[in-house]
Amino acid sequence: MATTTLTAPEDLRITPRDRRFGREATTPRLWHGARVEATALYNALSTTFPAGEAFFVESVRQFRDGAPPRLADEIKAFTTQEAIHSREHDAFNRRAAESGYDLSALEARVDERLALTRGRPPIVSLAATMALEHFTAILAHELLADPRHLAGADRETADLWRWHACEEIEHKGVAYDTWLNATKGWSRWKRWSVKARVMLLVTRNFVVDRTAGALELMRQDGVTGMKAWASLLTYLWVRPGMFRKIAGAWLGFFLPGFHPWTIDDRHLLAAYDATAPALASSKKVRGAA
Ligand SMILES: [Fe+2]
Ligand SMILES: [Fe+2]
Repeated sequence: MATTTLTAPEDLRITPRDRRFGREATTPRLWHGARVEATALYNALSTTFPAGEAFFVESVRQFRDGAPPRLADEIKAFTTQEAIHSREHDAFNRRAAESGYDLSALEARVDERLALTRGRPPIVSLAATMALEHFTAILAHELLADPRHLAGADRETADLWRWHACEEIEHKGVAYDTWLNATKGWSRWKRWSVKARVMLLVTRNFVVDRTAGALELMRQDGVTGMKAWASLLTYLWVRPGMFRKIAGAWLGFFLPGFHPWTIDDRHLLAAYDATAPALASSKKVRGAA
C-alpha cells in the first residue's frame, strides 16, 4: 500500500463529484446504528464542516497567485470539492436540527475558533488549514479502511461520510503543497517548528472541542455524567477507537521530509469508487465554486 513520495503522485487527478445526499428520505435522529455516542460524535464533526471548510478554501485561495500551474489547478479542484462538502454537511446539519438537536453552541464554538485565526496573518490560516487537512485525511483514511467505523449506520448517511472521506484523501496534498510553496524562502527549522506548533494547537482544540460537542449532543439525548464520558471515550479510543488508530499517522506529520503522499492510499479511493456506482454517473464539476 505505501510508497514513498515527496510530492503528490504524477498521475493524481482531483475530480470533484457533485453529489447530493439525504434529500429524499428522512434521516433517523440516531442515524448511527441507534447509538447515542456514535451519532453525537459524527454530528459534532459535521457541525464544523460548513464554516470550517469555507475557511480552508479562503485560506488556500489567498496563496493561489504565484503557485505553479499544476498546483493552481489543484487549488481550484480543492476549492470546488470543499465547497460541495460544505453544502452537503450544511444539509446534513439541517436534518440533524430538524430531528431535534440544537447545534447552536457547537457552531458558535467553531465560529469563535475561526475568528481568532482570521485575526492573524494569512500564513497562519494556511498553516492551520494544512494541519487540519492532514488531520482530516488521516481520519478519512481510517474511516474508509475499517468498515467498523460506519457499521450499522443509515445507508445514505454512511455514503455521505464515505464520499467526503474519499475526496479528502484525493486532495490531501493541496494545502500542504500550497504551504510548501508559500514558505519556500523559510529555513527548514522555521518551517518545521511553525508546522509542529500549529499541529499541536489544532489537535488540542480539535480533541477538546469535538469531545465537548459530542458530550453536549449526548446530553440532548439524555445521556450525561460518567455514563456519557465512558461511552464516548470508549468509542473514540478503544472500540472502534478512531483516535487511537490515527495516532501513528498523526505522529508521521512531525517526521523530517513528511508529505501527505508519503502514504499513497489511493487504493481506498479505488475501492470506494468501485462500490459507489452513482459516482460514475454523477456530474463532474471542473470549475471552482
Ligand atoms: Fe471536505
Ligand atoms: Fe479537505
